Amino acid sequence: MSRPADPVGDELLQLAADGDPTRLEALRLRVAAGEAPAYVAGFLSFGGRRFRIDPRAFITDPETWWLTEVALEQGRGLAAQGRVPQILEFGVGAGTLAITVKLAQPDWPVSGIDIDAAALELAAENARLHGVDLGLVQSDYLSGWPPAAAVPDIIFGDPPWGGAEDLYDGERDEGYYLQMPAASAFPPGGERTGIHDRLIRSVVERGWNSTIILNYGVLPRPVIARSAAPLGQWSLAHPQPGISVLIGRR
Ligand SMILES: C[S@@+](CC[C@H](N)C(=O)[O-])C[C@H]1O[C@@H](n2cnc3c(N)ncnc32)[C@H](O)[C@@H]1O
Repeated sequence: MSRPADPVGDELLQLAADGDPTRLEALRLRVAAGEAPAYVAGFLSFGGRRFRIDPRAFITDPETWWLTEVALEQGRGLAAQGRVPQILEFGVGAGTLAITVKLAQPDWPVSGIDIDAAALELAAENARLHGVDLGLVQSDYLSGWPPAAAVPDIIFGDPPWGGAEDLYDGERDEGYYLQMPAASAFPPGGERTGIHDRLIRSVVERGWNSTIILNYGVLPRPVIARSAAPLGQWSLAHPQPGISVLIGRR
């Protein structure tokens, strides 16, 4: 399957300008001064749908389309066994991925957690825009997950990973990511998988049997293997050459 060809960069500005050349020129000047095109346009496109975006939240990377595909595939495997899979997105940001999953499978309960209250506000706006019900919880790792809530069958996410050298392409360089909320782009302290590591340990320590599906982007296999070591079983999917999505369990 191929990834949807969503508009990016100047294409977003052209859509935002809606045929008004003066407005397009003004938008292009802002991008030339260093602002990210999606922030300037006020929206991003993902899987053919528009999502509101502004500096309250991370600009969803198009490559994480694969993450939603893997989460859906794993969920359909559970559904085939007669379960209604409970899905949790870790680090839901503006809600793009969780909403995409919910729209694909409206009967599955989908929640999203994030440490960042402002990003969660935007996720709630996007959920309203798309007419879906998402459970949104502010939480540092899994600490805010209500004790009485069901253990999620699937935890998926694109936690911050890598550093200045770990990039999808030259267009989205370190400066591009540094415009985004501080907790959203790179893990603190230069640990390339520090947030993935803590999340995995947290799931294992809780004794949760959730399937964990995490994007590691362009990070090399030995780095991912170290991060996944606490899991009893794991494998990597490479839905696009050079991109790794971990699928694992305690
Ligand atoms: C790379 S962004 C991805 C956002 C969203 N999934 C998307 O693709 O648009 C990572 C997200 O993880 C959140 N995050 C970072 N550290 C976290 C933590 N300790 N607990 C919960 N969320 C965290 C950030 O606030 C950010 O929204």
